[in-house]
Amino acid sequence: MKVTFYGHACVALETKGQKLLFDPFISPNEMATHVDVDSIEADYILLTHAHGDHIADAESIGKRCESTFISNFEIITHYGNKGFKGHPLAHGGKASFPFGTAKYVNAIHTSSFPDGSYGGQPGGFVVWNDETCFYHAGDTALTMDMKLIPQTCPKLDFAILPIGDNFTMGYEDAVIAAEFIQADKIIGIHYDTFGFIKIDQEAAKKAFADSGKELILLSIGESIDL
Ligand code: NI
Ligand code: MN
Repeated sequence: MKVTFYGHACVALETKGQKLLFDPFISPNEMATHVDVDSIEADYILLTHAHGDHIADAESIGKRCESTFISNFEIITHYGNKGFKGHPLAHGGKASFPFGTAKYVNAIHTSSFPDGSYGGQPGGFVVWNDETCFYHAGDTALTMDMKLIPQTCPKLDFAILPIGDNFTMGYEDAVIAAEFIQADKIIGIHYDTFGFIKIDQEAAKKAFADSGKELILLSIGESIDL
């Protein structure tokens, strides 16, 4: 499966002929100026929460691609009022889509829209079908709830975890998260975008390697096959 990193928490994945885009924040990202937002396609836009650094380009991409939004009830209602198609999920709930199953799982964070209006409770997604299973954690602290994922979902092939500290867990806690969710291959997100979340990338990779896991840090715009 092709996985493309567009910076910060934005990841695009293609599976079952469907294009999934998580948390599009590209045009305001000074580190992603080389990415052509207008060339990104999305059948589905999955939003973990309503913060500006996760939704900035959702409307423009969603409008151009006629994407279906998947998120919590409040976020889907917000975009529904603007004419976007959407499927609401609440924590612990899952639903079937042409790309497979998506389950909305707990995150410890907040979720207001940039204007301060209520964005529901933040979450992450576990997505699976017969060829893959992965977890995009969104913005979250390390939480014991992560232990529920291997008990309630298929075995993860990889996970997309925040590692930048300050607003989310740092890489040290993300190593423990990887143990809780029983994933050996981690794509790091939510680091280095701005000053508060600058990290030592080599130290982060070593922390994962020391625990027998692989931390993959992609360049912005880079794709890999997983
Ligand atoms: Ni956030
Ligand atoms: Mn964020």
